[in-house]
Amino acid sequence: MNSTTKHIPVLLKETIDGLNLRPGDTVVDATLGGAGHALEIAKRFGRDIHIVGIDVDGASLRRAEVKLKKIGAFYSLIHSNFQNLERILGEKGITRVQGIYFDLGWSIDQFESGGRGFSFQKDEPLSMTLGDNAADYKFNAHQIVNEWDEENLRSIIESYGEESHAYRIAKGITTARANGTIRTSGQLAEIINSSVPKYYTWRRIHPATKTFQAIRITVNDELNVLKSSLGSAYNVLESGRMVEVISFHSLEDRIVKRTMRDWDDEEKGKMLTKRPITASSWETNLNPRSRSAKLRIFQKK
Ligand SMILES: C[S@@+](CC[C@H](N)C(=O)[O-])C[C@H]1O[C@@H](n2cnc3c(N)ncnc32)[C@H](O)[C@@H]1O
Repeated sequence: MNSTTKHIPVLLKETIDGLNLRPGDTVVDATLGGAGHALEIAKRFGRDIHIVGIDVDGASLRRAEVKLKKIGAFYSLIHSNFQNLERILGEKGITRVQGIYFDLGWSIDQFESGGRGFSFQKDEPLSMTLGDNAADYKFNAHQIVNEWDEENLRSIIESYGEESHAYRIAKGITTARANGTIRTSGQLAEIINSSVPKYYTWRRIHPATKTFQAIRITVNDELNVLKSSLGSAYNVLESGRMVEVISFHSLEDRIVKRTMRDWDDEEKGKMLTKRPITASSWETNLNPRSRSAKLRIFQKK
């Protein structure tokens, strides 16, 4: 299996330092991905830390395993959505963990070779499910784009994409599909491109970026999953230990911030990051994706 990765882990030192791990600990990487963070733990602690790596994407998990094995890490891998956290840890006989972190979103490897229509720079069938099993999802991107009415389309593009041209894009999609089914990510990107005003196509980000984000969030129910999973993370965490979340857009960060602030108010522990930790200019130069990353840390009482 080819384990090469283009994904560069974000806020690596900050995330691992923030966990304050000790030999003998079990730590959960809820979004193993390219194992960038997990490998750093293995480098620092060798086999003294048990890393439980979760990912909903089987291909990511297989790529990560090659690397973890090579470095001689002490790990267990679980192919699942992190919304099942408590149950899947329970099935492994793990009732308490000494750290847990989420690095949300997806890795560049999934973007480039996932084949599920995540990228508007590729021409792939529109699925956008993060997991491998289509039956786990109520609908996929193809259904949203071809079957949802214009008002529902506008609503998700506006709320989950925070897209100011949601109305035009929703109209563009329903007009285009009247002439034939929209089958691929490339087709969808082209429709979005021709629906927005000309000036919008000259900006740094592609005009389809926000709409693709909105559809992906909807297909994977990402915001509800995040909310409930933070509660599970708190439940499985040992007293005095840290839960950390790296998020990449304001909708996720708002959920993380509110949840941690509520826990703090309820005296369930302490939000260690009143302001999120962000990437240094050194890191953003090296990895432009890190520009939007925000790390928040909560310590359980
Ligand atoms: C940004 S990547 C993680 C990268 C990793 N920290 C690294 O540095 O290599 C996010 C990973 O989380 C996975 N993921 C996203 N949502 C998930 C969910 N609800 N349950 C489990 N895994 C999820 C994605 O499949 C992806 O592999």
